[in-house]
Amino acid sequence: MSNLLWYPGHDLSLPNIVRAENCHLYDSDGNVYVDLESGVWSTAIGHAHPRIVRALSDQAARIAHTGFCYSSTAVEEAAQEILSLLEFDQGKCVFLCSGSEAVEYSIRATRQIEQRPLLMTMTDSYCGSYGSAWEKREDEWFCFDWTKCKDCPHAIECNDKCEHWSTIPFSNIGGFLLEPGSSSGFVRFPPKKLIRNIVERIRRGKGLIIANEVTTGLGRTGRWFGYQHYDLCPDIVAIGKGIGNGYPVSVAAFSTTVASRLADKPLPYAQSHQNDPLGATIGSGQRADGSNCIN
Ligand SMILES: Cc1ncc(COP(=O)(O)O)c(C=O)c1O
Repeated sequence: MSNLLWYPGHDLSLPNIVRAENCHLYDSDGNVYVDLESGVWSTAIGHAHPRIVRALSDQAARIAHTGFCYSSTAVEEAAQEILSLLEFDQGKCVFLCSGSEAVEYSIRATRQIEQRPLLMTMTDSYCGSYGSAWEKREDEWFCFDWTKCKDCPHAIECNDKCEHWSTIPFSNIGGFLLEPGSSSGFVRFPPKKLIRNIVERIRRGKGLIIANEVTTGLGRTGRWFGYQHYDLCPDIVAIGKGIGNGYPVSVAAFSTTVASRLADKPLPYAQSHQNDPLGATIGSGQRADGSNCIN
């Protein structure tokens, strides 16, 4: 009998896994399985990847955890690496522990600097397992059903002549959270023209664009980030899953402009493991010799 609480709705089909390597799982009876899902879409470069194992063990032996009042060069270097990948060179980021946390932090940061009551996302966005983005209360979120736009013959420019578009309360919306290609249990891609029209309208109103790259980031769609398929530059990016390759680390990253707006209105958020060197080192793919293996 297991003493663990499990997420309901999933059968525990392999209860005795003892180790994993690349895409293979090995159980205590000597059976070998192919992990076609990379765990929860997380071990992007394979289980027990030698470079990650080395980075993890070397950094753990040096220092795994710091605290609110001291930092480490490993974390600063990891931050530069992530920010340069995002082309947020003068921006800021924070290392956290799960995709849900990176999304929630991004949302809190948005609300910290944006006064309008609503944020917009799609009805099928997953966002995370707790918090405002999971709850999507009507007084905080406007959720748009993009499936009606899928086969729209007029989608070149969305405007108020479209009754579906005209339901969007843009004047009350301070930001748009895009999941570029992933949503609750499916992998679907909202139409590029629709997304570009929404982004253009939000930007005209000086709102923020937040990309949830927890599932689509770090090369999983053939580009470094899913938003690149939409030719847009977000203000805030949440990254998770593949960045830790199985280790629980995530990142919320902010453009230069957003970072300077946050400097004026710092976000009070205390979590014991934020910006820990161990997670940051794994997240940046640092090799033990100090060179970088993210490319
Ligand atoms: C699009 C998306 N956002 C956020 C999350 C939450 O990430 P985590 O499960 O690491 O908290 C997930 C997880 O599946 C996801 O698919």
